[in-house]
Amino acid sequence: MNYRHGYHAGNFADVVKHIALVAILQHLKKKDAAFAVLDSHAGRGRYDLGGAEAGKTGEARNGIARLSGMSGAMPEALATYLSLARQNHAYPGSPLIAAQLLRNQDRLTAIEKHPEEFAILKDVLVPFRNAVVENADGYARCLKLLPPPARRGLVLMDPPFESPDEFSALAQALREGVRKFATGIFLAWYPIKSQAEADGFTGEVLAGGVAKALVVDTKITAPEGKLGSAGLLVINPPYGFAAAMQDVAGAISPRLDTALTVQWITGSE
Ligand SMILES: C[S@@+](CC[C@H](N)C(=O)[O-])C[C@H]1O[C@@H](n2cnc3c(N)ncnc32)[C@H](O)[C@@H]1O
Repeated sequence: MNYRHGYHAGNFADVVKHIALVAILQHLKKKDAAFAVLDSHAGRGRYDLGGAEAGKTGEARNGIARLSGMSGAMPEALATYLSLARQNHAYPGSPLIAAQLLRNQDRLTAIEKHPEEFAILKDVLVPFRNAVVENADGYARCLKLLPPPARRGLVLMDPPFESPDEFSALAQALREGVRKFATGIFLAWYPIKSQAEADGFTGEVLAGGVAKALVVDTKITAPEGKLGSAGLLVINPPYGFAAAMQDVAGAISPRLDTALTVQWITGSE
C-alpha cells in the first residue's frame, strides 16, 4: 500500500470525478427521502496543494488550479464543486465533499485502509455527525454494508490501481454491489492506459447484469503526470446526469485542455 492520493489530488481526473460526485449528490437531494453514501477508498479527505506531495508532481496545476478563477454563470455541479474547493483552505477529497453536501437525514460511510490516511480522515470528518469512518478493506466492508437501510444512495469505488488485478477486483466488487443494491447509483474511477483494457473492464461489469450505465472519459492534451486519460463508470446514473456532465464538459474542457466525453454503454434515460 504505497499509493498516496496527495500526489494526485486536484489533478484533471480528480476534478472530473469530484464534479460527477457533486452532480449525483445534488440529484439525490431533490427528494426529501434519506440517502446513503458509501466511499470504499476514501483517502484522507483533505489535501494541502502547497505541500510536499502535491508540489512533487505538480498535477493540480493542470487541474483545479486552472478552474479556481472561474466566475459567472456555470453548471450547478461545477459551481458547487468550486465553492467547496475554495471553502476548505485545502483541496477536499471525496468524503469531505460528500459530508459537506449531506443533509441531517443522510449518511456517509467512508472506508480507508491505510492507517495514516485513515487517522487524518477521522479528524477531517469529526465535525460531521452523520459521517462514519472505518479502517477496513474497501471492497469487503462496502459490500457488507449493502444495501444501505435508506435503500437509496451512491456507492463510490475509487481504488488506487496499485495492483495488476485491480480492474478485475473492481469489476467483481461492482457486480456484487449491483446484485445486492440493484437500485443504487455506482460511481467507479479507473485509469485509461489502454482503451482495450478499459473496454474489457466495463464489459465485465455489464456482463453481471446492469440495465443502465454510462462512461465519462477525460483525456488531457498535455498531462503533468504519467496519467493522460481516465474514466468514470456510472451505473444507474440519475436522470439528467448525462446532460449535466455534457454542460460541465463545455465549461471546463477548454480551460483544462481536455477532451471530455459522456457515452451511454447500456440503456439510456
Ligand atoms: C484514489 S485514492 C482515493 C481518493 C478519494 N476517493 C478522493 O476522491 O478524494 C485511493 C485510496 O485507497 C486507499 N486504499 C488502498 N487500498 C485500500 C483498501 N484495500 N481498502 C480501502 N482503501 C484502500 C489508499 O490509501 C488511498 O487513500
